[in-house]
Amino acid sequence: MAILKIAQMGNPVLRHPTDPVPVKSITSAVLQNFIDDLIATMREYNGVGLAGPQVHESLQVVVIEVQENPRYPQVPPIPLTVLINPVVEPLNDEMEEDWEGCLSVPDIRGKVPRYREVRVRAHDREGKQLDFSAKDFFARVIQHESDHLQGILFLDRMPKLDTLTYMAEYQRYWGAD
Ligand code: NI
Repeated sequence: MAILKIAQMGNPVLRHPTDPVPVKSITSAVLQNFIDDLIATMREYNGVGLAGPQVHESLQVVVIEVQENPRYPQVPPIPLTVLINPVVEPLNDEMEEDWEGCLSVPDIRGKVPRYREVRVRAHDREGKQLDFSAKDFFARVIQHESDHLQGILFLDRMPKLDTLTYMAEYQRYWGAD
């Protein structure tokens, strides 16, 4: 397993729409190794999610996991989830604003509106079809990561930039929020 280098904002790979993974190649050694590396990289940098383009692979692969996370001490755990070629749609119009950060936009947080509940269709790492709904923080992370597959960063989803905050100021002024 390898820790991969994370693409930072400004790298064009983060702005390209990604290619779907051919379903037949999901179980290939190359893709399985890539998924393992993506998981290891997410854990190494205390991310709650990571998408292919963030490690310079323009592929529709996303991993999500929340254990005890020092970057997000207040959020509930999410078991390790691998989504390949995800299709995400809102289940209703309800939206909620909350803080987000991104390993590709280091040291910055901002409040982003997201749908509270989404339906997700995707393949898992065995190639099986998944179809489930998610809400609250899990739904937020799914929307953030699937945006990466379209070349969208969380900053693009902020209607106003007035909450854009460096981490030191976040801790100083907003940490108890
Ligand atoms: Ni991100």
